[in-house]
Amino acid sequence: MFGRDIVRDYSDYVQIVGLCDINPGRLKYASEYIGANCPTFTDLDELITRQKPDTLIVTTTDSAHHEVIIRGLAHGCNIITEKPLTIDAVKAQAIIDAEKKYGKKIIVTFNYRYPPYRARIKELLMQGIVGDIQSAEFHYYLDHAHLTRYMQRWHGETKFGGSLWVHKATHHFDMANWFIDSEPEQVFAYSTLERFGSNGPFRGKNCRNCAFTKECPYYWDITQNSHLVNLYTANEHYDGYVRDNCVFRHQIDIYDKHSALVKYANGVQLNYLLTGHSDYQGYYLAFDGTKGRLEARVGGVTDNNHIELVFIPTSKFTDQKVQIIKAEHSPGGHWGGDPIMMDKLFKDPDMPDPLGQQAGVRDGVMSILIGIAARQSTKTGLPVNIRDLTDLRPRVKRQPE
Ligand SMILES: NC(=O)c1ccc[n+]([C@@H]2O[C@H](COP(=O)([O-])OP(=O)(O)OC[C@H]3O[C@@H](n4cnc5c(N)ncnc54)[C@H](O)[C@@H]3O)[C@@H](O)[C@H]2O)c1
Repeated sequence: MFGRDIVRDYSDYVQIVGLCDINPGRLKYASEYIGANCPTFTDLDELITRQKPDTLIVTTTDSAHHEVIIRGLAHGCNIITEKPLTIDAVKAQAIIDAEKKYGKKIIVTFNYRYPPYRARIKELLMQGIVGDIQSAEFHYYLDHAHLTRYMQRWHGETKFGGSLWVHKATHHFDMANWFIDSEPEQVFAYSTLERFGSNGPFRGKNCRNCAFTKECPYYWDITQNSHLVNLYTANEHYDGYVRDNCVFRHQIDIYDKHSALVKYANGVQLNYLLTGHSDYQGYYLAFDGTKGRLEARVGGVTDNNHIELVFIPTSKFTDQKVQIIKAEHSPGGHWGGDPIMMDKLFKDPDMPDPLGQQAGVRDGVMSILIGIAARQSTKTGLPVNIRDLTDLRPRVKRQPE
């Protein structure tokens, strides 16, 4: 998204002046694939000193985001970073402090805010369709293939991705914070790992070198995909990054089942579920308010060009009936959100943002803190206060940055 798409669609507006990756083999292949025709570096300081970029786009493994962001800020760059902002509270605080210290801007690319039908939900909530929101439900389901892809990579280990509570749920908690228009105050959670890691009945070195390819429901032959082989497998000798790693390796310590209760500063209670091992890919979202209830059920893959939202007015408003609201579903990555976000980032940064879709560091922090608190709550069995994690104090109403 931040490589080939920029070269193809935004080269009249921005120029990629350098590419950096700590893996020289992957860097070489990616550079050819992206076609930016620019110098490449395995050392970030060297890239910044020589090429003097205005903006650094951070797309590394999640656990390295903070060091790359802070080094970029220290060199005077603005930052566009992939989600999650980072993976724990100490690193989050270091980013908050660095943004203040260096006076540069960090944008977090929450592309999940940009699909047109989600913008429609936000618009309806802002117009007060349900009145004051009192409670919300957000249930997200990953299908087997999606979860397997996480378990095969660094995402399976908390020290790299912060677990799916952070790596994946950052998107969902950010959406919830944005829709509810408040910041989280307290979190209680359960999470469990049931199928993967040490729970597996056998294990191999990786899928290519495994004695159990017939028995294993997760066996996947990466050699059938030459792009992935060129990008990952051919370069694993540099850094040991195995793209088709065993989903039963003992190092896996994340969860495949997650439930959390989140209390917001404005009194809203969110009931959140991330089922990481489902036959269904999609989600269910609902808001109950003083004037009614708004529901959305969205399959991850749909051929429809719209999503049907259901509004159920409270019985006090007897003149109103249940309404089906058709919300547009447009083409492009991530349900049509990516091209809109990319236009705002690169083509027209001054594009009006009435729904507050562009996210800054505070939004990035507030979304990961829910997941970080959920991880902590799982371990202690106790609720966790968001104010105890960084120096940010939860606000009753979010403020656009
Ligand atoms: N917004 C979305 O919908 C979305 C979708 C996919 C991925 N992502 C995010 O994008 C990022 C990259 O994901 P991916 O799937 O491309 O991962 P990847 O594992 O394919 O690539 C990460 C790269 O970072 C490099 N790297 C690690 N530490 C580094 C450092 N200190 N300096 C320079 N390079 C370093 C690795 O060598 C690797 O090549 C992640 O943060 C992920 O969460 C976001």
